[in-house]
Amino acid sequence: MTNGEAEVPAEAARPVEQAIRRRRMIRSFAPEPLDPDLVSRLLDTARRAPSAGNCQAAGFILLDTPELIARYWDTTLPPPRRDGFRWQQLLDAPVLAIVTTEPDRYPARYTEPDKVASGRTSPDRWPVPYWWVDAGAVAQNLLLLAVEEGLGACLFGPFDHEAALKEEFGVDPSLRLVATIALGHRLDPAAPEEPGRSAGRARRSLDELIIRPRSRSSRPPTG
Ligand SMILES: Cc1cc2nc3c(=O)[nH]c(=O)nc-3n(C[C@H](O)[C@H](O)[C@H](O)COP(=O)(O)O)c2cc1C
Repeated sequence: MTNGEAEVPAEAARPVEQAIRRRRMIRSFAPEPLDPDLVSRLLDTARRAPSAGNCQAAGFILLDTPELIARYWDTTLPPPRRDGFRWQQLLDAPVLAIVTTEPDRYPARYTEPDKVASGRTSPDRWPVPYWWVDAGAVAQNLLLLAVEEGLGACLFGPFDHEAALKEEFGVDPSLRLVATIALGHRLDPAAPEEPGRSAGRARRSLDELIIRPRSRSSRPPTG
């Protein structure tokens, strides 16, 4: 493998480490439904992510019936474009969980007495909008839980369809749609997944990603 996943032997790795290293976006699903109790358990576990001020703003729009799934794809990939879609078996995923966030919860929380001194009283006062950060953690939890459960999962963006999806599913305007996660049994777990368009990009080296600042004493004197 080019991307380093094989560097830690699976038997030596810890479960979380294994799940992280094994996780890949899966875009070919069997249409077989998922047990609703399993889906509830996965979502209940996935939401147990860290969140700024414990805002717990990330949630899900759960599309778990053929009728709801059809409405999702009719909204985001209507029939004329659907025929040329590269990932036809992504459309067979029996569950779509749209990860949502609620930016307004952050200024509400950060004007409570223990946080008000931070000055984060409106969304534009956040240099890093934590509502996206927190939703990303929930999304990653769900992707890893799918690996552990032997399921396939694929995260993709709603792109320009956010407003249309909110309208279609009657979602409160204050919610933002972060990403859609398709969940289901893999069409053929033994078959190698056809790689996505970006999969050929080599994994960057760790050295490139870690900044090791010099100690103060080794800094050249200034002025
Ligand atoms: C925020 C985000 C958006 C993504 N959007 C798409 C998408 O629209 N379509 C798609 O096929 N994959 C999408 N991906 C998957 C990436 O292409 C994929 O994670 C990357 O190529 C690495 O492959 P891997 O996840 O299988 O390791 C997205 C991933 C993230 C994190």
